[in-house]
Amino acid sequence: MSDLVVVSDDAAIRTIRMNRPDKKNALTQPMYAAMTRALGEAGADASIRCILIAGQRGAFSAGGDIGEFQKRAEGGLEPVTLEFLHALARNKKPLVAAVDGLAVGVGTTMLLHCDFVVAASGSVFMTPFVKLGLVPEAASSLLAPLRMGYARAFALLVMGRPLSAEAALAAGLVNAVVESAAVEDEALKAAREIAALPAGAVALARQLMRGDLDAVAERVDTEAMYFQERLRSDEARAAFVAFLARKK
Ligand code: COA
Repeated sequence: MSDLVVVSDDAAIRTIRMNRPDKKNALTQPMYAAMTRALGEAGADASIRCILIAGQRGAFSAGGDIGEFQKRAEGGLEPVTLEFLHALARNKKPLVAAVDGLAVGVGTTMLLHCDFVVAASGSVFMTPFVKLGLVPEAASSLLAPLRMGYARAFALLVMGRPLSAEAALAAGLVNAVVESAAVEDEALKAAREIAALPAGAVALARQLMRGDLDAVAERVDTEAMYFQERLRSDEARAAFVAFLARKK
């Protein structure tokens, strides 16, 4: 298979790195599948105490691959993305993210499932779902208003307004903003700090803080149903064609 997602373990920390830099880490079905697998294995491995999700310098992820959106509009419900979103929502290990650059669509919404997020100062967070004729996913319609309040969540999720790293910090989406060169070290430091804590107590505290995961999973499914419907809408089809035909 490919190395579009690189998984590496260093003692108690598993790093899952999105690795499609030429496409700004736009996520494809094989990438979602690899990430689902990496989360699942980590969940079953007692020696892994923290998971670090990272991208490339300049791009954490440009979101779902729009070419695939187009294909999915023609076909049936695509279970691979959904499996990833469920794996993320149900994941039991602490999740740290290192964001250095663009975090678009699921590149931003997956952060709502993370426990500690470090961002480079030039990072930009945006979710242009509605601009693409789509609806928010990854339970973001539930989690973003809880995390940052309705007003900020509306501007992000519906209006598609970007958040700078500093604004994301103020909104409670990220924990720390550092220079680009320091992002990975800072995230690793946090991951090591978490990994050094008593694992049973961390798991329980996290479970208490995360609340009702059934409700989160249910929202993932409800959004996915509408998302699939919207993929076939004229609004979305026109937006995909416009994106894929731009510049060049
Ligand atoms: N799906 C498919 N391809 C994507 C992509 C995506 N989500 N995001 C970026 N790419 C591709 C571009 O088509 C381009 O490919 P090419 O070199 O073959 O033309 C390559 O990645 C680099 O992107 P480019 O647009 O040239 O970089 P940029 O720095 O000018 O802009 C973005 C980066 C992320 C702002 C811009 O690519 C973008 O808006 N992407 C779409 C994001 C999106 O809407 N995601 C879905 C969210 S629901």
